[in-house]
Amino acid sequence: MSAPKVVRWGILATGGIAQTFTTDLLVDPATRGVHHVKHTVVAAASSSSAPRAQQFLKDVGAPAEAKAYGSYEELVKDPNIDIIYVATPHSHHYQNAMLCLEAGKNVLCEKAFTVNAAQARALVDKAREKNLFLMEAVWTRYFPLSIYVREQIKSGRIGPLHRVLADNSMALNPEENFKDGKHRMVNPDLAGGALLDLGIYSLTWVFQTLYHTQPETARQKPKVVAALKSYGATKAADETSTVVLSFPRPEELGGEAHAVATTSLRVATAPGGNHDTASIRIQGPKGEIQVFPPAFRPSRTRIILADGTVEEKNWEFPGPGKGSGWYNGFGGQKNAEGEGHGMFWEADEAATAFLEGRKEGKYEGLEESVVIMEVMDEVRRQGGLQYPEKIETTKFPTQL
Ligand SMILES: NC(=O)c1ccc[n+]([C@@H]2O[C@H](COP(=O)([O-])OP(=O)(O)OC[C@H]3O[C@@H](n4cnc5c(N)ncnc54)[C@H](OP(=O)(O)O)[C@@H]3O)[C@@H](O)[C@H]2O)c1
Repeated sequence: MSAPKVVRWGILATGGIAQTFTTDLLVDPATRGVHHVKHTVVAAASSSSAPRAQQFLKDVGAPAEAKAYGSYEELVKDPNIDIIYVATPHSHHYQNAMLCLEAGKNVLCEKAFTVNAAQARALVDKAREKNLFLMEAVWTRYFPLSIYVREQIKSGRIGPLHRVLADNSMALNPEENFKDGKHRMVNPDLAGGALLDLGIYSLTWVFQTLYHTQPETARQKPKVVAALKSYGATKAADETSTVVLSFPRPEELGGEAHAVATTSLRVATAPGGNHDTASIRIQGPKGEIQVFPPAFRPSRTRIILADGTVEEKNWEFPGPGKGSGWYNGFGGQKNAEGEGHGMFWEADEAATAFLEGRKEGKYEGLEESVVIMEVMDEVRRQGGLQYPEKIETTKFPTQL
């Protein structure tokens, strides 16, 4: 076996998900059976100060020689970086990802990709113009669990899909937890609300099952009808959004298919952390595939066939393992000792694409990311939700 190739990452921002992603990134890929690539972190940048970036590098256990920058502008000039991971609030993705692309850097950008489809298209155009890799970091798509679900669908086990129901909601008690309205979950200046933060996962399940499993030439954009309830305290972020989608499909592939994607930061998919009820139901005439919550990091599937067959599967998150003293998690929640968070699979794909010279992710191409942004635009249009112009604009650079 040849030695793994090393891919050098730069991390743009030092918040919650940057911490989780980078901690996962530095786990030896051999622990998940990946032997062709190794990741290293060569730099991180904080918009607030270099010492903050230095502390971040220390906290995630980056190599001692990794550089700490006090601005994103300095980071993108570093000639030793192969890919930059953008982990700012989604309001900032367009400006930050464009900064990277303009500087000739490949980009893996957190979800939601941008604030709107026009920004997503502009990033795609720039990446193509500069022949750079660009991918939306929808980590769930790269889970073995997701690959399995898509394979089951493509094998025709439950017949042609006719309907998908997908929910990703959390009872976040926003008045209590985000009292001053400044938190990115509810702050209009940071493109707050359920849709872009949580609803993206409901739409991910709809798209990766109903859209992505179709041959590329057969994929057609859905029609969208939506209801959006605005969050009272900040007036310009959605607290609950409900989206009905109708996908045109050739008759020989099953004809029109429907989906309902729901999201809320007022009620929970899994109240009290009870994960007993499937939050994703993928339905065909011969049965259904169920995925249990949370939609973004599921670990359990069930297939129920019309003949009574039931198949349950549990999916593990590999990592350094028990007894390693190593932990990861997100938002104050710790996973079991030695258990990875699952963000390394998308990193493996981005690094592999980089090494192979591919310019897009394998399980969600840029065209699909743009179509999903178009759906979210349409939901916001029907629901009357517009964010401040400075974060909706495609003008680059714009000071945020
Ligand atoms: N894939 C997932 O599971 C997952 C989970 C959570 C969040 N996310 C996505 O990741 C992104 C970041 O979320 P997060 O939870 O990491 O947020 P966070 O903890 O608030 O961190 C965001 C970071 O962005 C930087 N930043 C730059 N300008 C900022 C501004 N005006 N306001 C706030 N932060 C600013 C800050 O880092 P510096 O000061 O170092 O520049 C900050 O620490 C969002 O797009 C979110 O949707 C993904």
